[in-house]
Amino acid sequence: MPSPPKRSDSSLRSTSSSSSSSPSQTNASTRLTQIRNHTMGSASTDTPPTLFDANVVPQAPEDPLFGLMAAYRKDPFEKKVDLGIGAYRDNNAKPWVLPVVKKADEILRNDPNLNHEYLPIAGLPEFTSAAQKLILGGDSPAIQEGRACSLQTISGTGAVHLGGLFLSKFLPKPTPAIYLSSPTWANHNQIFTNVQLPIKSYPYFSAKTKMLDCDGLLSTLKSAPERSIILLHACAHNPTGVDPTPDQWKQIAEIMRERKLFPFFDCAYQGFASGDLAQDNFSIRYFVEQGFELVIAQSFAKNFGLYGERAGAFHFVAAPGANAQDVAKRVSSQLAILQRSEISNPPAYGARIASLILNDPQLFKEWEHDLRTMSGRIIEMRKSLKAELDRLGTPGTWDHITSQIGMFSFTGISEKQVLAIREKWHVYMTKNGRISMAGLNTGNVHYFAEALDDVVRHVQ
Ligand code: LMR
Repeated sequence: MPSPPKRSDSSLRSTSSSSSSSPSQTNASTRLTQIRNHTMGSASTDTPPTLFDANVVPQAPEDPLFGLMAAYRKDPFEKKVDLGIGAYRDNNAKPWVLPVVKKADEILRNDPNLNHEYLPIAGLPEFTSAAQKLILGGDSPAIQEGRACSLQTISGTGAVHLGGLFLSKFLPKPTPAIYLSSPTWANHNQIFTNVQLPIKSYPYFSAKTKMLDCDGLLSTLKSAPERSIILLHACAHNPTGVDPTPDQWKQIAEIMRERKLFPFFDCAYQGFASGDLAQDNFSIRYFVEQGFELVIAQSFAKNFGLYGERAGAFHFVAAPGANAQDVAKRVSSQLAILQRSEISNPPAYGARIASLILNDPQLFKEWEHDLRTMSGRIIEMRKSLKAELDRLGTPGTWDHITSQIGMFSFTGISEKQVLAIREKWHVYMTKNGRISMAGLNTGNVHYFAEALDDVVRHVQ
């Protein structure tokens, strides 16, 4: 294998760094500024005509994930590999429109009754009720007893935000902290900070075993103040790919009940992790069965491949009891006010597609098939990568590549190694060593394994 050429592009450098300019360019631009200030009536060049100078609005860093995506796109190297953003790719490294989504899209576009009217504030009713059944199970006691309420949201991010906003506004003061797993999806921190929920963390991933730090997690929950909110990834944990086993979920639930902790589930990968919708939702169904009052953020970006359509839902489930329906009704009414003030009503098209599929038994079956195609290809890639690393005798143990599940694998390589693999091999992954497994395919897994082997051996 020829070693890849040293890159010459500047995508590793900060995109915000300005290029150096010549003295004559600088003079010309100063003169231009003076003329502009003069014609606009500004008295002096050092009085900026803004309320938002750099002390008030400092330059924010670029979003690391979307910045990485942009750097990848700019890179002209032919064999570059994108393992950054969590979006499914087919075996040709191309975005994949699910065949069932293509079909539903076709049906929708040919529907003579299709229009572009506003949806209700809570979203498309047939979508939210199907989303609720999917996440809680069709036979869920919470649905039968009318103690669940659901609103359509701007995908999972919107649902996480709506839930955070609701809890921040209505939980008794002082507002309890929300505990996030360490590590977690980077956006969780920003979203909950924006709605003024204090943030704490619980141990989750053991760097040593590359498995769940179950003892650390349980002992933190045991000492968390009553009524703290605990953010749980329902399945396919982002970024680690490590999920609790059913027994571990039971232990988590037991302690949370004892300590009166409030579960906030984030579910972005139902069906995408194992290929089985019910299996991927064990945690949520178990907690509901145990009688918790809880909330759920549900995304349809990954499992329908509807990334840009922003289809998702937020669910509130009241604990069983005489007043449960009343609680759900009141919560639902306040959620509607929050929704109306923020987005008025949610976007229609993605929800229409998902709704068509979720409510039609034949299309639903085809969707399950597509889910197995995506999860199956990812599982195959895990096996291939592990086999390649074994073949190369790459130092370290790599069993976690096949034991982790879902979109991501936490490789365990250092930030220095991540930067080196980008610089030398044009392989793009997040700085914490996370790779999106969907970016691997039969054409690049060998190349990636060589690259990984190289940095593990030579970059300390
Ligand atoms: C990811 O973590 O890569 C995805 O969930 C995309 C995102 O919005 O961060």
